[in-house]
Amino acid sequence: MDKKKNISMAVIRRLPKYHRYLEELLKSDVDRISSKELSEKIGFTASQIRQDLNCFGDFGQQGYGYNVKDLCREIDNILGLTKTYNTIIVGAGNIGQAIANYINFQKMGFDLKAIFDINPKLIGLKIQDVEVQDVDNIDKYLQNNRIDIGIICVPSKNAQKVCDIIVKNNVNGIWNFAPVDLLIPENVIVENVHLSESLLTLSCLMQEVNKGQEE
Ligand code: NAI
Repeated sequence: MDKKKNISMAVIRRLPKYHRYLEELLKSDVDRISSKELSEKIGFTASQIRQDLNCFGDFGQQGYGYNVKDLCREIDNILGLTKTYNTIIVGAGNIGQAIANYINFQKMGFDLKAIFDINPKLIGLKIQDVEVQDVDNIDKYLQNNRIDIGIICVPSKNAQKVCDIIVKNNVNGIWNFAPVDLLIPENVIVENVHLSESLLTLSCLMQEVNKGQEE
């Protein structure tokens, strides 16, 4: 158990990929897999995999490999996927609606409870059976409903204000899509999603490849 406390951010960032591949193996009725086979599928080195998975306990056995079911269960635990999270979306524009419509999040245990917007034209709109409410009601809503995660999809100039209201009402997980660094108390976790940063990384890597080809 103690080992888990020392899991580095780099390992945490790799966990969803392990989760995805192990789920696929489970669906294909694979009982066990060696780090070498897993390495060929995932693309991390076998030693990286052994090192990463060693953080969670002794799952691998020499000559046997990993028990896929046990490992999958443990990674689900570490990822918090054995729980259900109540979520709200603030900002029902392009991004907000796309997230609300992506029902796989619900299947993973992220239960969308409410959506809020400031635009009167959007209030009353139903997205996957959840009605967009006036953001003026958010305070009252959060006082009466336990929400774990607030998903911020408003323009950057309004993101901090929205974040403050959410945090004030004891929501301690923020999934932030606005391109702004939110100021939050220590007990709140923010995960920023910046598609543009990912796009710039792609563009930078392509520059490198192109440079290599020109030389
Ligand atoms: P959008 O303009 O389509 O939607 C924003 C929505 O927020 C609108 O419906 C607006 O009425 C609502 N809104 C504004 N102030 C509000 C408030 N105080 N309370 C509640 N609702 C409020 O914008 P889009 O394209 O959906 O982008 C949303 C945010 O995501 C922006 O900050 C944008 O910069 C960011 N974005 C992030 C990306 C990423 O990779 N994370 C990619 C594209 C956009």
